[in-house]
Amino acid sequence: MAILPIYNCFHPVLRQKTEEVTNIDGEIKKLVDDMFQTMYGTGNGVGLAANQVGISRSIFIVDLSASGDENEKNPLILINPKIEYYSDEVVEDLEGCLSIPQLYEKIPRSKSILVSFYDLKEKEHKLEAEDFLARVIQHEFDHLQGILFFDRLNIIKKALIKSKLKKIEAGEILADYPMILPDGTLIEPELEKK
Ligand code: NI
Repeated sequence: MAILPIYNCFHPVLRQKTEEVTNIDGEIKKLVDDMFQTMYGTGNGVGLAANQVGISRSIFIVDLSASGDENEKNPLILINPKIEYYSDEVVEDLEGCLSIPQLYEKIPRSKSILVSFYDLKEKEHKLEAEDFLARVIQHEFDHLQGILFFDRLNIIKKALIKSKLKKIEAGEILADYPMILPDGTLIEPELEKK
């Protein structure tokens, strides 16, 4: 397993729609392993999409306990996910993103959803999710479509974060984990900052 660098949200790979997985082979299994190690390694990620590690495939992982105890881990792997149902009821809550360091904004999301997906054994699942789990799944599903959470802000809020986004794009706001900047440069945090 390997910790992979996270791609900055202004890297083009985060704006491409990902490709469906047609064959769950050793390469996909290794990617999923690496994604978990990467997400757990950041210390505070609860979800990670494959394109956030530069691989444009329709896969994301979720673990709401990611920052918690080893024994409480609850990993979820969603391959070729489809959201089949969105509740009309919408709730707003703070979101962050490993590809968008130090930006947290209140985003409206459906309170509950129904998502179908495949696991690593090519078994199909349908999962009803609500509240925080539904939010994380909608956020990660957006990544696979090339959508970022700040796209869902209204025009006034977008204007308010414009200068911060410019700093993130320029690599002036960094994460405490390795990141690939929009031009492909790898930035590794200094150990003392961790
Ligand atoms: Ni994200």
